[in-house]
Amino acid sequence: MQREIYLDNSATTPVLEEVAQAMEPYWSVQYGNPSSPHMRGVAAEKTLNHARRTLGELLGVSPNELYFTASGTEANNIAIQGMAAIPHLRKNPGHIITTAVEHPAVLHVVRYLETLGWKATYLPVDKAGRIDPESLKESLRPETRMVSIMLVNNELGTIMPYREISRIIQDANNGRQNPIILHCDAVQALGKIPVDIAALGCHMATFSAHKIGGPKGVGLLYVKRGTPLRPIMYGGGQERGLRPGTENVPGIVGLTKAVTLALENLNANAAHMHRLREALLERLMSIPDAAVNSPRDGAPHILNVRFAGIRGEVLIHFLEQKRIYAAMGAACSSKSKGRSHVLEACGLNSDEILSSIRLSLAPDLSLDDMAYAADALAETVGEIRQIYR
Ligand SMILES: Cc1ncc(COP(=O)(O)O)c(C=O)c1O
Repeated sequence: MQREIYLDNSATTPVLEEVAQAMEPYWSVQYGNPSSPHMRGVAAEKTLNHARRTLGELLGVSPNELYFTASGTEANNIAIQGMAAIPHLRKNPGHIITTAVEHPAVLHVVRYLETLGWKATYLPVDKAGRIDPESLKESLRPETRMVSIMLVNNELGTIMPYREISRIIQDANNGRQNPIILHCDAVQALGKIPVDIAALGCHMATFSAHKIGGPKGVGLLYVKRGTPLRPIMYGGGQERGLRPGTENVPGIVGLTKAVTLALENLNANAAHMHRLREALLERLMSIPDAAVNSPRDGAPHILNVRFAGIRGEVLIHFLEQKRIYAAMGAACSSKSKGRSHVLEACGLNSDEILSSIRLSLAPDLSLDDMAYAADALAETVGEIRQIYR
């Protein structure tokens, strides 16, 4: 059978064997509802508490500051809409700052707030997809209530300048009656670069299990103690009322195992993926009229490239025939056929945007896989150029 190479790990990853094993007992043996008063429920509640404590230790925060959610998207919605649901802000919508390159799970929530009367600023980015911290400083207003900026961009791998961002917010909050809440979408950062919540200086941070070898449909929201927030859904009061709904116990066990492995192996995995990306990049840049969109100093798992005159969409379908799986950009926007808002914000022209593809890596890939994929890409680019000449 033809070799298969999966280069779409920013869309999702396969569940790691150890994660699947850790989850196994919680499907049909230890299946209790953590809210049930009998021993099955109590056992499930203990499992949940243990998971929260483990994650608290791993992330360097209090377990009480962690909330399990049904996805990264849901965590982002609770963070942003939950802030806007505070009674005085519901009556007097304020100003929110985000960036032009956020994931739709932030961007579309901010657009929704605009329909409620909020004012929004979408910070521009440079060619590498990075904001200028000065532009954040200049955008702050007395009525600014929240700043939501991702740590690692999901299309380019760009790392946002968080040291400056957190300093600006800290300075702005000095003496402010209503502090500006800083929210960080760290979904693409965890397990790829160090994520130190205290150093980020954020009040809220979002994570998702399925980008790091965990199951789909489980997210995690960090909320710093004292951060004002209201639920956006109502129900049985689980997760201290912030995210009602019976907890996904197997999923939460899987998330905890995936985060444990990702952080235990962070340095080795990051160094390995960095080597893979460099090797892939070097080979791809020898293809005529190739260019790279990702910054060299980005997170190690994402490489966004383009080949002049070739539609990314066509290239991806040709690669698929060779069992090499890549993406146009974010999985959600690829399907909707929209042009990448990220590459557009970076100033790429229409042809450049449409010719771009994202290759995203995982630690289980090898240098040999990179050589194989790069050769297949070079061959495919040649084939397409022949056909469309
Ligand atoms: C940066 C970023 N934020 C949020 C999400 C959404 O996470 P989930 O798929 O768990 O809803 C993704 C997933 O692609 C992402 O890359």
